[in-house]
Amino acid sequence: MTAVANAGGTDSGRSARDDTLNGTHGGKLRIEAVVMRVMAFAALLGLLAGPGAGAQSVDTGVARGRAEHLRRGINLSAWFAQVYDAKGYTKEHFESWTTAEDIALIKGMGFDHVRLSVNPQPLWQTNHADDLNAEYLGYLDAAVKMILTQDLAVILDIHPDGEFKGKLAQDEFVEQFADFWRAFARHYASLPPEKVFFEILNEPEIRDRYRWAGIQAHVAVAIREGAPGHTIIVEGARWADDDDLVFMEPVRDGNVIYNFHFYEPHLFTHQGATWGENYWHELKEVPYPSSPENVQAAAARVEDAVHRLAVVRYGAERWNAARIDADMAQVEAWAKRWNVPVTCNEFGVYRKAAKPEERAAWLSDVRTALEKRGMGWTMWDYSGDFGVVVKENGKATVDATTVKALGLNMPGRPH
Ligand code: BGC
Repeated sequence: MTAVANAGGTDSGRSARDDTLNGTHGGKLRIEAVVMRVMAFAALLGLLAGPGAGAQSVDTGVARGRAEHLRRGINLSAWFAQVYDAKGYTKEHFESWTTAEDIALIKGMGFDHVRLSVNPQPLWQTNHADDLNAEYLGYLDAAVKMILTQDLAVILDIHPDGEFKGKLAQDEFVEQFADFWRAFARHYASLPPEKVFFEILNEPEIRDRYRWAGIQAHVAVAIREGAPGHTIIVEGARWADDDDLVFMEPVRDGNVIYNFHFYEPHLFTHQGATWGENYWHELKEVPYPSSPENVQAAAARVEDAVHRLAVVRYGAERWNAARIDADMAQVEAWAKRWNVPVTCNEFGVYRKAAKPEERAAWLSDVRTALEKRGMGWTMWDYSGDFGVVVKENGKATVDATTVKALGLNMPGRPH
């Protein structure tokens, strides 16, 4: 009895609570209905900026059209940045590292653009970042002219060392960087905007992605002041990977191309490398595509258990064309969501320790996935350790396997 009475008491308690909830629900529903009506009205007036609406408010048509000039490209490294030639940043180096013959060869292979890495440090020698070093700028102008003469497009990629990027932690340095960019963009503002592109910063290395977003937006405004009509190339924080890109929200400027770098998985593309993760230098003949079985020999060569596990995992993850394409699908979804053009202006495999045919398979799979999704690409690099040619004593020999993997033609031969 008592139990029943209690139960009844509980029951009536529940119904009282339900009434309260119903009352709240009823009120909530009424409020929701009003909010929805207001929202529909505001949307009609174009007052709301959700992801889709935000994307529509910026016209990305010009950048989309310009991205058509950046379908197939090659990175010109170690010429105006990361110079390891013993000659250093000198006239002798600038005039011999990459020549008019090289540029003609690039055109002959079927590339439509180059990405020219530029170290801002020699250009910017004083505290006045807008006072550019005229001598260095003169050599750079000659290089740009040589490229445009071959009717190739050029990305001017600001590519400083890590120490320089580290200084962007100070607000004052960010201001100087913006001053530098305003002046640099102004210098090139008279060149054809369909052919000359400005990339704010290669691989920012800034871990705080929110800080990088603020810096990038600020510098984009400075570039726009220097060159009102040119297309700007932006990228995500850290190493500008695809996950850094999909984290981003677009900048408030429609004339922008969004970019990412793709070296996944690094233990395949950077096997043998002496930078990045320390253990990469121990890796050799890590296979691609990967399977649990085919990584065993490469794993066995690695002394440290943790690093050996990384190789074993690489096998278990079965990296292949489909796995690469799955990453590209995420990038494409992001590009569609924001209605912006995207390119991949660095991807490649270090030549030292990878098997040439497996390196070619990876290059071909990445390139194909990008093309399939309408994204332009720029391979890293022309004549360096990831190269499409091997240069010895000033003479370039084209690597036919790499050219084929890129879907291009040997110069002088029909496609
Ligand atoms: C770096 C190069 C490096 C390449 C591949 C580039 O962004 O600047 O130094 O060789 O990535 O790791």
